Amino acid sequence: MNITINGKEIAFEHGDTVLQVAKRAGIRIPHLCSLDWAPSPSASCRLCVVEVEGSPRLQTSCTLQAAEGMKVQTHTPRVMKARRNIVELLVANHPQDCLACDRQGACELAELTREVGVRPRQYAGMKKDQHLDISSPAIYRDPNKCVLCGRCVTMCHQIQGVGAIDFTDRGFRTQVAPGFSAGLNVSGCTYCGQCVRVCPTGALMERSHVSAVVAALSDPNTVVVAQVAPAVPATLDQERTKHEGVPVMLEHLAAALKRVGFTAVFDTGFTADLTIMEEANELVERVKTGGVLPMFTSCSPAWIQYVELHRPDLIPHLSTCKSPQQMAGALIHEIYPKFAGFVAGDGTRGTKRLVVVSLMPCTAKKFEAEDVGDVEYVLTTRELGALWERFGIDFDSFTDRAPLDPPFAEATGAARLFGGTGGVMEAAVRTAATLLGGAAPAGPLPEARGLDGFKCFNVDVNGITLNLGVINGLGRLPSTLPAALSGMHFVEVMSCPGGCSGGGGQPYNSDMTDVKKRIKRIYEADKKAEVKYSHENKSVAELYEEFLGRPLGEVSHHLLHRSYTDKSALTALHGAEADTGAVCAAAEAAA
Ligand code: FES
Repeated sequence: MNITINGKEIAFEHGDTVLQVAKRAGIRIPHLCSLDWAPSPSASCRLCVVEVEGSPRLQTSCTLQAAEGMKVQTHTPRVMKARRNIVELLVANHPQDCLACDRQGACELAELTREVGVRPRQYAGMKKDQHLDISSPAIYRDPNKCVLCGRCVTMCHQIQGVGAIDFTDRGFRTQVAPGFSAGLNVSGCTYCGQCVRVCPTGALMERSHVSAVVAALSDPNTVVVAQVAPAVPATLDQERTKHEGVPVMLEHLAAALKRVGFTAVFDTGFTADLTIMEEANELVERVKTGGVLPMFTSCSPAWIQYVELHRPDLIPHLSTCKSPQQMAGALIHEIYPKFAGFVAGDGTRGTKRLVVVSLMPCTAKKFEAEDVGDVEYVLTTRELGALWERFGIDFDSFTDRAPLDPPFAEATGAARLFGGTGGVMEAAVRTAATLLGGAAPAGPLPEARGLDGFKCFNVDVNGITLNLGVINGLGRLPSTLPAALSGMHFVEVMSCPGGCSGGGGQPYNSDMTDVKKRIKRIYEADKKAEVKYSHENKSVAELYEEFLGRPLGEVSHHLLHRSYTDKSALTALHGAEADTGAVCAAAEAAA
């Protein structure tokens, strides 16, 4: 089947929209409200209009199904005038404080004004004066900058199934907000940040820690160290190769961070291995002693927030392990000052203040850092760009390398897998199989890989059949939890589609194609790793020998494990839980 766009014949498949066909053919049609990978476009912005031969009205290409013989023009004078009018009206009500906006340089609205030719501005409309929402430790909301495209609502409802925000009020006062215009902190929001990743303006942003980190780096009485999550170098590499730069290794990142003043750079992969040691032992103990099953993973802070807010009945099923970020924070504070030879304190009377900064692909890690308390600041992958700018680092062409720092420098291939959906499961199976007296799988575990919403499979170890599940994205929970709760032993839940590679702190507008490329890099890193099993990480073994004792022992329990709180009263007050039936259907359709 063929369609003609701008005089060019292009093949399409049944169900394709004109916008999708044009994109594949390299023809850009400006659009705002539609997301390539969301199930149903709201068709509210009308920026994607095109002229279709034989149709008197302009048509929205994001909803228009391609049809055999259809003839479409994407940039006629009529179309361009319509688009310019739309953007001019959006800009008329916008605060236009671009010079002080955190989205400066990465704002889609600003790009659209250039693309459609809003030069000079035609209209000066009324400005909104709505309250900023700074109630959450992870995300802030500035309704004055919102263009009401509804992408965030699509993500929150249809993809993530949380339903914390929606259109509220009427007319000029319409905004996207939690119910009753409450703060995000009492909205049922899990802080996954998927809304931020797709927002085209500065209306939804992470709570930036860049200035606080710069201040800490400038203080001579403060020792600032970093830890880097596995998904971050994979993402920077994928972003850099878009511009044909040299590949990014963890060592490049370490060198750049040391250049700007970090005293040491640690690999969060080290504590990913430690997490596997604790979590695999916890699983084996639960299986052998008839403990609460299935055991759910606890690495994803938005999933933890989801359970605490919306499903506190699942708390006994959560692994008590802290996430690798928090394990690293706790260990660095406990061990690093002695290792590096300084006295940790408040920075006075000969002491040094120790500040741990996490580089994470995730906005919810900011919430986790505040909630659990072992890490001072969290920078998302996006915020790293701002850090480089402050210190004049051109990271696109940065080629220096520096080693990661002991005692948390060593990480296995299993740890690298934490950067993608199914990775924690795959890493855990490698070690749990050994603990149960069986052979650790030698190669990849294909059943755990891929972007399906729910993967379930069995692994037979030494006469025991482990029933395992991987849930990919919060939106899949309503449809998959019943199956996960009936007879499974261990279930991985990652809040963001694709896992950390698709995290809410990842580059704006990255789609599932980008996520797949990042995951591919993660698999390559595992393949190249000399040591593939967390229980074979020599530095982790030394840590147990010299400091922790044994997995699940007293010291481990104190430093590496946590408890959970029933927070359901917060959502019950505001009725923020989504209609899970509708959500489930939409999420499955998006798969
Ligand atoms: Fe098609 Fe908004 S992108 S109407």
